[in-house]
Formats: sequence, C-alpha cells, structure tokens
Amino acid sequence: EYIRILHNLVGLEAELAQRLNLMQVVIIPGDSEADSAVRRELGRATASVLRQHLGDNMIVAVSGGSTMAKVAEAVNFSVPTTTVVPARGGLGEVVEYQANTIAAVMANKLGGRYRLLHIPDGVNEETLEAILDGDTNLRAVADMIKKANILVHGIGQAGEMAERRGMAAATIADIEQHGAVGEALGQYCALPGKIVYVTSSIGLKLDDLAGIDTVIAVAGGSAKAKAILAVAGTGEQSVLVTDEAAAKAIQLLI
Ligand code: F6P
Repeated sequence: EYIRILHNLVGLEAELAQRLNLMQVVIIPGDSEADSAVRRELGRATASVLRQHLGDNMIVAVSGGSTMAKVAEAVNFSVPTTTVVPARGGLGEVVEYQANTIAAVMANKLGGRYRLLHIPDGVNEETLEAILDGDTNLRAVADMIKKANILVHGIGQAGEMAERRGMAAATIADIEQHGAVGEALGQYCALPGKIVYVTSSIGLKLDDLAGIDTVIAVAGGSAKAKAILAVAGTGEQSVLVTDEAAAKAIQLLI
C-alpha cells in the first residue's frame, strides 16, 4: 500500500513540476496541517533538498515561519563553510518564527556562521535606507543577502499572514481586494502569480530571485493550495517541497 502511494506521488510530482514550471517537486505522503509527524517530515525533506544543493562557501538565505523552523531543526549534516542569513528582516513574526532565529538555528546545525538583520518591523523604505546608511554592518549583511546562492522560504495564505503580522485592517482589506491569496517574503500574491502588495523591508524580494541559483519553497496542507499556486506563479522558484494534501488540492485547481 505504501509503495502504491509513493508511486502515485512520483507521478504527481512530475505533473506538478511540469504544470508549475518548476525544476523539481517533492511530495511527502500525508497532511502536515493535521499531523505533526508529517510537519516534521516536510522539514526533513526540505533539509535533504538543501543538502543536495549546498556546496562549500555558499550563502543560504532563509525565511521565517513555523514550517521553516522545522526545516532548520531537521538539518543533520554539516557544511561549516556555509553562511546563513535571513532572507528579509522585520516582517512581524514571534521570535521563534523570525528569519533571524531560523538562520541562527540552521547555521549552528551546519556548523557554519550566521549574520543577522536587526531592523524594526513596520518601518517605511525611506527610514530603512536611512538606517542602512548609518550602519555599515547592517549594510554588509543586506549586501550579503542579495548574493545568496540558495534561498529556502515558506509560503502562507495572504489573509492569515496579514492578520498574523498585525497589519492594519484597512491594509488587509486592500490586499484582499486585490485578490491576494498567497504570501512569501513579505509579498502578497494573487493568482495566477501577480504580486499585489509588498511589505517594506530589507532583503530579498520575489523579483530578485532570478539571480539566485536555487530557490526552494516549502509549504504543506490543503489550505495553502492557492497560496502555493500564486507564489509559484511568480515564476522564480526552482524546487517546491510540499505534502500530499496540498499537492492533491493543487491538482484540482490546475
Ligand atoms: O513570515 C515568514 C514566512 O515565511 C512567510 O513569508 C510565510 O507566508 C510564512 O512565514 C509561512 O509560515 P508557516 O510556515 O508558519 O505557515
């Protein structure tokens, strides 16, 4: 029975890779939304994709979120020449789920180094530029992020992420009115892959991803199907790691 499920998933992986125009799709059996063991597996599968792409002296940028926290925890190999950086700063997550925290945890697991972005949440671009101008260390980290070889990031539902970040009701309404269903890197996306709102912050945006060799997105659960489609539709991901529940829900949408 297990072999049969795996076999079907391999077919679905190929189908989604083709339809979403991705280099690779990895689907783990089960539903990570309902089962914490599957959440852990999603982290492990993503860590193993990272391992395949990670060479010496690379910069790895990571996003925040509970799924990415599982990815960092699951890293069980060492590449000490790695530097891990947060992909973006100040997106308004609790400490455990901040990209800074995940970067530090992952770097320690790899036996490598990390550099952190200490910037406040909810600051406009102009103020951020002024902060960068006055802080050479911060500027160096910001430059380093842009040179990342690998990005690993989570994907969330637009409305849920806007709420989780405590955005103003008017902003949330505006984002929803523009049809946003998915969010990644502080950017809210509508189907089939249009960025409709960008949180001001420092670091990588979806537009920058073309310059990064490997972009690994991770997200599971059927509730995230549209979110995954919208973010994948922006066209810059290379690998998607997801679960059976999300993959089957996506299949029904495409
Ligand atoms: O806030 C960081 C982030 O990676 C978001 O870009 C993404 O939408 C979210 O976390 C995913 O969070 P979770 O894995 O907890 O659903």
